[in-house]
Amino acid sequence: MRLDPPCEVSRPQVTFDVEEIEPILQAPPMDLVPWPGATIELKDGRTLYIREARLEEAPMMMDYVMKVMQSPHDFYDVVGARVYAELAGWYRKRLKDPYVLVGILDGEWAGFANGRLMSKEINISLHTMALMRGLRIGAIMYYAKAYYGFELLGNEEWWATYESYNGWKRWGVGMAQPSYPWPEYQHELGGARVYYVTKKYWDVSIKDYVRQMVGADLDFDVPDEIVNANETMRLPDEVMV
Ligand SMILES: CC(C)(COP(=O)(O)OP(=O)(O)OC[C@H]1O[C@@H](n2cnc3c(N)ncnc32)[C@H](O)[C@@H]1OP(=O)(O)O)[C@@H](O)C(=O)NCCC(=O)NCCS
Repeated sequence: MRLDPPCEVSRPQVTFDVEEIEPILQAPPMDLVPWPGATIELKDGRTLYIREARLEEAPMMMDYVMKVMQSPHDFYDVVGARVYAELAGWYRKRLKDPYVLVGILDGEWAGFANGRLMSKEINISLHTMALMRGLRIGAIMYYAKAYYGFELLGNEEWWATYESYNGWKRWGVGMAQPSYPWPEYQHELGGARVYYVTKKYWDVSIKDYVRQMVGADLDFDVPDEIVNANETMRLPDEVMV
């Protein structure tokens, strides 16, 4: 857009350094308590280690998700594409207060869960992916990020939505989540229904979810051997979904 200036100006151009633009495009972060790391025993006896992903791991995660999104079944395509965009948004600092958790099994990337904080009160759940099937890794990853929100970040509400039947069954039904009126409330993932969990409902009802699902709880007392064994996260050789 162009208009004639209403005042005589001595220099007709005003230029900016990109460093001056960046603080406007990049939201100032809230001071989030980090996820401390936790383990849980899977039904096959192996131990899943859930830690925060590191920013420098984003490019390799994006490379792998690019392959996962080629799977046209079980909504891995739309979820994969959106996860790719969220990883890029995290890497390029274009998401407000994101958190990214990875589930690692014997050093190999096995599960993903992310979200972001809309405010101190409201946690927006973005995506969960099981990269290995049949071990309820997805169920665990989702529970871990909700635990993070309610127990460690002090959130009051959890806003989720579901693209897939498996996701809806696992958490929409599996956690008996109510939804807000639609279309008055729309989730940022495509304007779908907002399913929500309040802190009160979490406390009275959902805390036991993962024990019921996998017969174990998250264990935050993580031995050094587990931390060291999963220090470097490897990508699986092939897509396994
Ligand atoms: C939703 C999701 C995270 C759930 O992961 P999960 O809890 O580890 O569970 P799975 O999807 O592997 O399996 C679901 C059930 O179907 C069975 N199953 C379905 N497809 C399977 C497959 N290809 N191999 C093995 N088991 C399979 C599992 O045994 C399991 O049965 P159970 O309920 O008795 O445990 C996962 O299905 C996923 O990543 N889907 C694609 C992305 C997605 O939809 N994300 C959520 C967006 S709303």
